[in-house]
Amino acid sequence: MYRSNTCGDLRLTDAEKEVTLAGWVSKIRRMGGMTFIDLRDRYGITQLSFSQDADRTLCQQAGTLGREWVIRVTGTVKERSSKIPHIPTGDIEITVTTLTVLNPSKTPPFTIETETDGGDDLRMKYRYLDLRRNVVRQNLELRHKMAFETRRYLDQRGFLEIETPVLIGSTPEGARDFIVPSRMNPGQFYALPQSPQLFKQLLMVSGLDRYFQIVKCFRDEDLRADRQPEFTQIDCEMSFVRQEDILQLFEGLTKHLFHTILNREIPDFPRLSYADAMRLYGSDKPDTRFEMTLTALKDLTGGRNFPLFDTAEYIGGIRVTGSAGVTRRQLDELTDFVKRPQIGATGLIHVRYGSDGTLKSSVDKYYTEDDLRKWADRSGARPGDLILILAGETEKTRKQLSELRLEMGSRQGLRDKNNFQCLWVTDFPLLEKDETLNRFFAKHHPFTSPRPEDIPLLDTDPGAVRANAYDMIINGVEIGGGSIRIHDSGLQKKMFTILGFTDERAQEQFGFLMNAFRYGAPPHGGIAFGLDRFVSVFAGLDSIRDCIAFPKNNAGRDVMIDAPSRVEQEQLDELGISLKPVD
Ligand code: AMO
Repeated sequence: MYRSNTCGDLRLTDAEKEVTLAGWVSKIRRMGGMTFIDLRDRYGITQLSFSQDADRTLCQQAGTLGREWVIRVTGTVKERSSKIPHIPTGDIEITVTTLTVLNPSKTPPFTIETETDGGDDLRMKYRYLDLRRNVVRQNLELRHKMAFETRRYLDQRGFLEIETPVLIGSTPEGARDFIVPSRMNPGQFYALPQSPQLFKQLLMVSGLDRYFQIVKCFRDEDLRADRQPEFTQIDCEMSFVRQEDILQLFEGLTKHLFHTILNREIPDFPRLSYADAMRLYGSDKPDTRFEMTLTALKDLTGGRNFPLFDTAEYIGGIRVTGSAGVTRRQLDELTDFVKRPQIGATGLIHVRYGSDGTLKSSVDKYYTEDDLRKWADRSGARPGDLILILAGETEKTRKQLSELRLEMGSRQGLRDKNNFQCLWVTDFPLLEKDETLNRFFAKHHPFTSPRPEDIPLLDTDPGAVRANAYDMIINGVEIGGGSIRIHDSGLQKKMFTILGFTDERAQEQFGFLMNAFRYGAPPHGGIAFGLDRFVSVFAGLDSIRDCIAFPKNNAGRDVMIDAPSRVEQEQLDELGISLKPVD
């Protein structure tokens, strides 16, 4: 037996037992004739004690150990004289009789503690040491539990976990593909899947009825806090279902995870149409932990010769409770915030609703107090509130207001990480028009089914067609999304035409799918959750990196293994690839 217990096991009830532990030296303290060591493993920390009086050589040997050395000790469990109540093993210590050094360690480049002195880059370079820290390891434990409970829930409901290939063909829709050269087929490339979308649909044609997979997906897109080039989906597909069946089942999964893992009971998810989400929050992934919804004001602003408002397609405001006393400086700061290129507003207008009932604004030159009162009434403002207003093109301005709303929500402490607000956003538009290219793109993906009642609009007004598509949002994060699919090869062909594919290209890219649909495709639909995002919302993390064992940095690099990297010319020759010289 290598060890009798872990470093998290022992309690006062084990007193006087002889035990053997193994782990890492976390801290060494020398006090008079005593040496104390905190021994750490995945399960906890146990104090070891060495006394000069009892065994001088052993005590001296303990004094020569360094941080992160790996040791094995045998000794007796004793009650501690000074107990530490907040750690589970805080009542006991081990009086050591035998000490074996299993492996010495170099001094680590940062302290392996919750509050480490290591910066981001250093911790990523030595990620294997970073993972020894409790906080990071706990995120991986949470991730494991969520994946495990997901499997349990889906297994109990008849889902089969089926693996789909990782070396597939490139498709033009969606994000950029990562491509992999094929040695056996010179000049030809595989692509890594952005999702197993096509395969899961084919599995439905095969009659497998309920599929899921916890699967790596790859997208070559610009990275953000909630995006990694490789990430994990809980990918699901079902046959003979309507949208309602999918929403019920996966709302159930989400509630199951909250219940089993966080011991939280989540009420039925509200549902919001895409149009309402945009109108009320300016976002298709609204953070519904707080109200502060957008109020449209355009019709209350005419006839006063204020050029900005007169020419704006949309004017909208948000009401910030109790903020009428905001300082000039704070307003300037907010103006700078909305003018940042990422947000792109031209300016910010404000109305202060004084606690004495008076209304003052930054556009007093144009608008009377009566005008302002109308705006305030519509916004539901009360004395003491502040109204912040943006004007411009509808979609853009709503998005800007959404950013401002989130900022104000954060400033007002309304975005508590322990408050979980889930919802479904439904009825997404099927298509999105790229005005510069003057062509339609699929908002979700080209296999998403239009709502049946909107199908006739495909010929007359494609932009107005709503999709049978839905997203699940928690606290303003898009956790998952899916749709009912087109299962009719004729309609699928029509979609490709609307998306600007020639028959030949559609055949070349998706021929296998359209062909498969000719052999009895059942009605089907599905959803995929981003596991990384799901875990980070549960853990209250700011970045999904913190729940991925070996993540990439913002430049898409793994700084620990130093990837991507150059390869030998020989390897390139074998693949028939010649590189242009890089400066
Ligand atoms: P979609 O593209 O919406 O749908 O992706 C599903 C979910 O995956 C997560 N996600 C990401 N997480 C981390 N890093 C990324 N780069 C990243 N990109 C996406 C999000 C998102 O909601 N095949 C469809 C699903 C379907 O229709 O069934 C799909 O992939 O949480």
